[in-house]
Amino acid sequence: KKRVGVLVSGRGSNLQALLDACADPAFPAEIVLVVSNVANAYALERAATAGVPSVTLSHKSFASREDFDAAMDAHLRQAGVEIVCLAGFMRLLSAGFVQSWDQRMINIHPSLLPSFKGLHTHARALEAGVKLHGCTVHLVTPDLDDGPIIVQAAVPVLADDTEDALAARVLEQEHKAYPLALRLIAEGRVAVDGNRAKVEAPGFGALVNP
Ligand code: GAR
Repeated sequence: KKRVGVLVSGRGSNLQALLDACADPAFPAEIVLVVSNVANAYALERAATAGVPSVTLSHKSFASREDFDAAMDAHLRQAGVEIVCLAGFMRLLSAGFVQSWDQRMINIHPSLLPSFKGLHTHARALEAGVKLHGCTVHLVTPDLDDGPIIVQAAVPVLADDTEDALAARVLEQEHKAYPLALRLIAEGRVAVDGNRAKVEAPGFGALVNP
């Protein structure tokens, strides 16, 4: 099994989806470490319940982003991590950290990239009047919310949607898309060609749900 480290900052529902997937003996990855930059993140309780070691590194106690990232990197390497998953990790990563996990770090973002990079994606999707919205799991490159796309899941935007209703509809799909993407990476079924990831999966990594 591939050894996975998950970086979190909050609720950790995507961490939970990954933990649940890893509970299946046939899943090709196991979570060996959870790193949080927020001491009281609920994600830490989820890790504890699953019996997965975790560490909190407060970014406020480091002089620079590079120092914080170096500490995180040391924990990940000590745990023998081979793949890093960002799951609601709300800090920018330094170029050096991203480079050192090149092709081995994935992120989930709550929009159909390249639309709506950054924050408040659901409110911005409603504001833009798009009829399809969703989530993206992608390999992490130095640019924010960029990098080869592994899996996307699409949902409809409904006429009377609120931000919360739309967020919940997307989140349900995040919990399917992220385990699928991790499985594909762990099984070596993603080949990167420039900015394009060739994905060996039914539908080429596209999940389209009613
Ligand atoms: C998720 O919706 C994730 O896609 C998003 O934060 C939420 C974390 O929820 N990530 C980002 O916005 C990254 N820029 P979770 O803690 O319950 O997984």
